[in-house]
Amino acid sequence: MAQPLSHPARIGVFDSGFGGLTVLQALLRYIPSAEFLYLGDTARLPYGAKSRKTIARYAVSAAEFLLDQGSQYLVIACNTASALALDDIRAAAPVPVLGVVETGANAAKAHSHSGDVMVIATAATVESHAYSAACAERGLHAIEKACPLLVPLVEEGWIDHPVTSEVLRIYFSELLAQAREAALHPDTLLLGCTHYPLLRSQIEAALPESIHVIDSAEVTAAQVAAAVHLPAAVAAPPPPRFFATDSPEKFRRLGSRFLGQPIHHVELIDLESSTRA
Ligand code: DGL
Repeated sequence: MAQPLSHPARIGVFDSGFGGLTVLQALLRYIPSAEFLYLGDTARLPYGAKSRKTIARYAVSAAEFLLDQGSQYLVIACNTASALALDDIRAAAPVPVLGVVETGANAAKAHSHSGDVMVIATAATVESHAYSAACAERGLHAIEKACPLLVPLVEEGWIDHPVTSEVLRIYFSELLAQAREAALHPDTLLLGCTHYPLLRSQIEAALPESIHVIDSAEVTAAQVAAAVHLPAAVAAPPPPRFFATDSPEKFRRLGSRFLGQPIHHVELIDLESSTRA
């Protein structure tokens, strides 16, 4: 049953940094009548190379901030936080919390005919095996590969860059070899990191045509739209508010690229001192 949100329908979106803006971009298209709060924990990123305990502590403090701002629904746009800290966030949040691992696995289930799926993600996400577990729960077999070079390449803006193409070629030749060794016939690739949708066309070009690429940003927005019931709109919602834990200027500059539109104002917050006792 869809979760009814009261007026103003306020949805909090959390990521370790800017990458989750790919999810917000899709959410703004799918749910234009909601008010969005986006928090990027830019002072403490990357999460993808940290331990479970640290990721959980950071992610819970971020979720608490978004709850204090009146969020009635939380979208954990960060794959690493979804993979390693979803239970901790749910335990701390009295509102529904949706993570991108489950939405990605749902989409893989809907798309894969062979039942064999490949997942690329950060090292922490891959080591958690959250995607294989979520896929296995849905009767799919997943092989996962950490692609730690892709986040810095995207942040550097090296999208259409020969180095990025070569890195992708190497990662995918290793991943496809891994699939062959495991006697799997993958027909689906899950982009298990917020930054990878920006490389979607390069990723598609580096893979056999038979492999369907799933962008978890798009499928997450579709699943949030299906999961919430919004009050009748009385007026257009206020524009999204952006919060960052480090340089608002850098967030504006890099974030605009991920969001696909200019970001004019970013509020600087301090999660270390606002963490609840
Ligand atoms: N947002 C992270 C994710 O989706 C990538 C960046 C990071 O490592 O913090 O896994």
